Amino acid sequence: MSELIRFGVSIDKALLGKFDKLIKDRKYSNRSEAFRDLIRKDLVVQEWTAGKEVAGAITLIYDHHKSDLVNKLIEVQHDKDFSQLVICSQHIHIDHHNCLEIITVKGSPKKIRMLSDKLKATKGVKHGDLTMTTTGKDMR
Ligand code: NI
Repeated sequence: MSELIRFGVSIDKALLGKFDKLIKDRKYSNRSEAFRDLIRKDLVVQEWTAGKEVAGAITLIYDHHKSDLVNKLIEVQHDKDFSQLVICSQHIHIDHHNCLEIITVKGSPKKIRMLSDKLKATKGVKHGDLTMTTTGKDMR
């Protein structure tokens, strides 16, 4: 564990008031943890921009009655450019028509975005989203 440093921050009173309200709404126990999370959020964005190895989750909602859609989605994941990114996928039958698929990915941000875009753009996918996070290796 790295050394813990305390430092002072000068901040506009009204802005601090807003920050404290946000902290309360999001159930943080103190300002320090909320502040650390704000920093980490920017560091994650930086990892994705810099092309470092990242992790993420692609979520898809689709109608499994749509002809051949399931096979198309699997085919995209098996593509030689993408197969090494996919760690696992979980399929949940939401109801009679709708399926939720959560695909856990790790690797190049550029390739993960490409995979996510391709899956989302597949005809019959009702909603898709990419949650961009970190492998945690360089995060404290
Ligand atoms: Ni299903």
